[in-house]
Amino acid sequence: MNSLVNIDGFKISFHEKSKRIIKIIITNETIDKLIFPFNKFNVNNLEYKPFTRFTVSKSLEDLSNNKLGSFLRSVLKDRNTGCILIEPEQKISKMDENFLIKLSTAITHLAGIPNHDSMSGKYYAKFDIKHEDKSDSYLRKAYVNMDLHTDGTYVNEYTDWILMTKIKEINVKGGQTVLLHLDDWEHLEELSKNQTGKENFIWGSPKSKNINYKVEHPVFNNDNDGNVTISYIDQFPEPKNMEQGLFLQKLSDSLEGSKNKIITELPVGSSVLSNNHFWLHGRKPFVKNKNLFRELLRIRGRFN
Ligand SMILES: [Fe+2]
Repeated sequence: MNSLVNIDGFKISFHEKSKRIIKIIITNETIDKLIFPFNKFNVNNLEYKPFTRFTVSKSLEDLSNNKLGSFLRSVLKDRNTGCILIEPEQKISKMDENFLIKLSTAITHLAGIPNHDSMSGKYYAKFDIKHEDKSDSYLRKAYVNMDLHTDGTYVNEYTDWILMTKIKEINVKGGQTVLLHLDDWEHLEELSKNQTGKENFIWGSPKSKNINYKVEHPVFNNDNDGNVTISYIDQFPEPKNMEQGLFLQKLSDSLEGSKNKIITELPVGSSVLSNNHFWLHGRKPFVKNKNLFRELLRIRGRFN
C-alpha cells in the first residue's frame, strides 16, 4: 500500500511505529452522526437478529460515502499491510460500552462475516482482566506475558481476521499490545521450510473455550499467492513426539525473541483489526495493581 485514500469524516494515515499498520481516526463529527442510527437498535437486537448487524454496518458505510468497507478489505488483504488501528478522535462519554459493541459490529460487517464465538455463545465475546484470575488460559492472566499467537487455531472455521476493541480500562499500567507481521520475523524462512512445521499437529483447547473436538493442521501453510501463513498459539498444540515438541519450543522462542515486534498502547475505544493469517498478536504483562481492570471485546471472522 503506497498511497492512502481520503475519506471525509475519517483521518487516515500510516501508524507512527509501522507502515504496515494503517491508522484510521473517526472524527467526532462522524461519531456524533452514528449515535442516531445506532440508537435504533440495542445490543440484544444485534445478538438475536443477525440482519440488524448489517443495518448498523451500513450506517457507518453511508457516512464514509461507501468508501470505508472496500478500503478496510483492501488493507486487510494486502500482504504488505493487513492491520488497521481504528481510534475515535477523542474519548467522548457518548461512547459507552453499548456504542462500542455497535461500532465494532459495524466495522466487522464491512470486513466480512463473524464466526460464532463458542466462549460466549455469541458473535462477539467480551472478557475482562483483573488482578485475580482462576481461569484456564493466558487470556485473563494479568501478570503473565501473552505470547505471540494467531486466533482460531483450535476451531474448524476459517479465522481470516480478528478485531479487538478496548472497552474499559481502570488502574492499568503495562499490558501493551504486541504485534508482529510474519514477513518481519527473522526466522520465517528457516522455520517455515522446516519439515516438521508442515506436518499436521493436533490442536485442542481448555474447557472455557467450549470446543469439544480437536483439529489437525500444520503451523505453516501457503495461501493462493504462495505467501506463507501461520496458525499458531503456544498453549493448544499437543505435540505427538520429540520432533514436534522441540520444533514448537524453537518456534516459540524465536517469535518471542523477534526484534521486530511492534509494541503499542491502545486508547480506550480503539480497535485493532488484523489479518489473522500473517499477523501475530500478544500482550505484555500488566504492572501489579489490586484494582486493575480492563475489558475487551473480540470478534473473529472470515471474508465473504
Ligand atoms: Fe488472541
